[in-house]
Amino acid sequence: MNAHPRPAPPLALMAELTHRCPLQCPYCSNPLELLKVAQERDTQFWLDLIAEAANLGVLQIHFSGGEPTLRPDLAALIAHATARGMYANLITSAVLLNEDKLQALADAGLGHVQISIQGADPATADRIGNYKNGHAKKLEIARLVPKLGMSLTINAVVHRQNLDQLPAMIDLAESLNADRLEVAHVQYHGWALRNRAALIPTREAFEAADAIVAERRAALRGKMVIDYVVPDYYAAKPKTCMGGWGQKLLNVTPDGRVLPCHAADSIPGLEFERAGVLPLQEIWEQGSAFEKFRGTGWMQEPCASCALKEADWGGCRCQALSLAGNAAATDPVCHLSPLHGEIQRLAESESRADHREFIYRRL
Ligand code: SF4
Ligand code: FES
Repeated sequence: MNAHPRPAPPLALMAELTHRCPLQCPYCSNPLELLKVAQERDTQFWLDLIAEAANLGVLQIHFSGGEPTLRPDLAALIAHATARGMYANLITSAVLLNEDKLQALADAGLGHVQISIQGADPATADRIGNYKNGHAKKLEIARLVPKLGMSLTINAVVHRQNLDQLPAMIDLAESLNADRLEVAHVQYHGWALRNRAALIPTREAFEAADAIVAERRAALRGKMVIDYVVPDYYAAKPKTCMGGWGQKLLNVTPDGRVLPCHAADSIPGLEFERAGVLPLQEIWEQGSAFEKFRGTGWMQEPCASCALKEADWGGCRCQALSLAGNAAATDPVCHLSPLHGEIQRLAESESRADHREFIYRRL
C-alpha cells in the first residue's frame, strides 16, 4: 500500500540517453560503473517513455548523458516530446555538434541548449575535459544557439584548478550572448568524489568567488542571469536536492531504470523499477525507491524536529550516505549535523594538499 498521500505529478524528466561521452571530466556525476552501449535502451523505449511522461503531466524534458548527441535518434525524441507539449532542453558538451545537426535539433522543437565549459582558455579547458580542441568547438556551437532561435545556458563547473578563471568565464558567457550562466561548484558524487582532493577549493578561494559572482550578477542584471551553486562542504545550509526526493524529478538511466536522482544507485538497498515494465505513474507514485525518502517520515534528528524540514527536506541523501555513511542521516552540510565541523575541517585540509592529478572518467 502507498505510505504517503499521492504525490503531485513530476515537473521534469531527466532522460540519460547514454553514458558514452567523448570528454573525460574528473568531476562527472555519472556513476563509477558506467553503462555500455549494449545496455542502452532503443528508440522505441524512449518514445514510449516520453508519451507516458507527457500523460503523467511532465512539463520539461532534459536530454542528458553522458553525451546525448551520440544518439542518432535524438532529433526524433525531441520532436516526439515537443509534439506532446513538453519543453525540451539539451545538456551537452557540444563537441560532436555542427551547424546542420544543431539546425535539425532546432527544427525538432528544441527550446534550450545547455553547454558546459571547463575553463576560460583552451589549454585549461582541454586539460580538464581531456579532449583536444574541445573548448574551441564548444564556443563555435554556443555562438550558433541564439542564432538558431534557442535559449543558451553556459554551465561553468568551477573547482580549485579553474576558479582563478571565474571572471574570464563570466566575460566569455556574456560574449556568447548566453541567457543564463550557471556557475556551479563541483558536487562531490560519482567521479568527483574520487577526485575530491584535486578539486576542492580553499575557503579563501571560495569566498573570493562568492564576491565575484555577487558583483557580476548585479552588474549583468537584465542582460544575463547568473545562477550560483555553492560548494556544499563550505555551506552552512544544505541544498534542497532535486527539489525534494520524489517531489519534482524523475531520472531515467540509459538502461531504463527510473531513479529519484541521478546518483541514487549509489545508495545500497534501494531497488529501482524499470520503465516499460511498470507504468511510469505507478513507479512515480508507489515505487519503493521514491517512497523511501519522500516526505519527512524517514527523518532522524535533528531533521525530524526541525522547522526547515519541509523547506530543504534534510538536504541530499546521496551526500548523507557518502559523508555520514547513512542515507537517512542529516546531510552533514547542515550546521545542525553533528558531523558538520568534521566535514569543514576535511574540506580545508584537502584543499591545501598539493594534489593536481586527475583520475579521468573513462568508459
Ligand atoms: Fe534541513 Fe535537517 Fe538541517 Fe533542519 S536539521 S536545516 S531539516 S538538514
Ligand atoms: Fe541524490 Fe542529492 S544527489 S539526493
